[in-house]
Amino acid sequence: MNAIVQIDSDKYARVVKASKAVRWDIDDDVIKGRSFDRSKKYLPDGLSLVQELTTLSDVEKRFASQVQGRTYANVFGLVERFITAKLLEVGHEHSLGDQNALEALVRFSDEELKHQTLFRRINDMMGAVMPGGYRFDVDHDAVARAVLEKSTWAVLVLTLHIELFVQHHYRQSIEPDAALSELFKDVFLFHWKDECQHVVLDELELKRHDAALSESERDRAVDDFIALVAAVDGILQAQAKADAGYFAAHCGRTLGRQEADSVAALFLKAYRWQYIFSGATHPRFQAILKSMITEAQGKRIAAALATLE
Ligand SMILES: [Fe+2]
Ligand SMILES: [Fe+2]
Repeated sequence: MNAIVQIDSDKYARVVKASKAVRWDIDDDVIKGRSFDRSKKYLPDGLSLVQELTTLSDVEKRFASQVQGRTYANVFGLVERFITAKLLEVGHEHSLGDQNALEALVRFSDEELKHQTLFRRINDMMGAVMPGGYRFDVDHDAVARAVLEKSTWAVLVLTLHIELFVQHHYRQSIEPDAALSELFKDVFLFHWKDECQHVVLDELELKRHDAALSESERDRAVDDFIALVAAVDGILQAQAKADAGYFAAHCGRTLGRQEADSVAALFLKAYRWQYIFSGATHPRFQAILKSMITEAQGKRIAAALATLE
């Protein structure tokens, strides 16, 4: 597609300036020689939903928040693999054009590489204080390859969705929860600082790409987006099962069949809330998506999401 889309260079320049202003270092600014403390919650209740597990003690709920908090870091490390690859690809389109846009996307990619390093560190640091046997058996490159086979529009919509819910999670749940591990909180404070710029770029790149699509291409891209959400759900189902099993094995008592099933169902509900519905219901996401698609396409997406509730 060769549609000429006017680039708003100033918007990209502002992102570059903001990115430079918040630049941080994993050791000097985030970790600062600390380690994880098992006496504190990791993921806040608003995301983990553990308060719904009324049969668990407070200590058991805290352990559930720690298991989910470790997976939370690992899921970002996973999705950032395809996000970096896609944004490098679309950034290349600016390489002989607008240099502010190019710089903004180079910085975006650099930041996502740093985030992946940070989340690997966090997984290892949590592993050092948590019982053995935790698994996050997802091949990052295989997932990224499968995602990148889909249309760029669908991958950019999924990326916008993720980076919007990152902000929402931090502001609504992580920042206000005084009972969280300070280190966990700082990891997602610094991550959030970068994501505030990323979400601006996601929207700019998505709209630039959307303007170049034909109606039939966009219609196929809507199907690709639906397929990507289903693939995300497949990963969440497997991880919820693994994490609930790990929780049951290390919570300190034997859970009855019914209680173990309730824990597994709650973990899946929480993961779907964290990675699908908190983004899909985000007002900014809904507004941007609605501005690009027809009513019928919106209904197709809503019907696909309804199957996951
Ligand atoms: Fe990130
Ligand atoms: Fe990001």
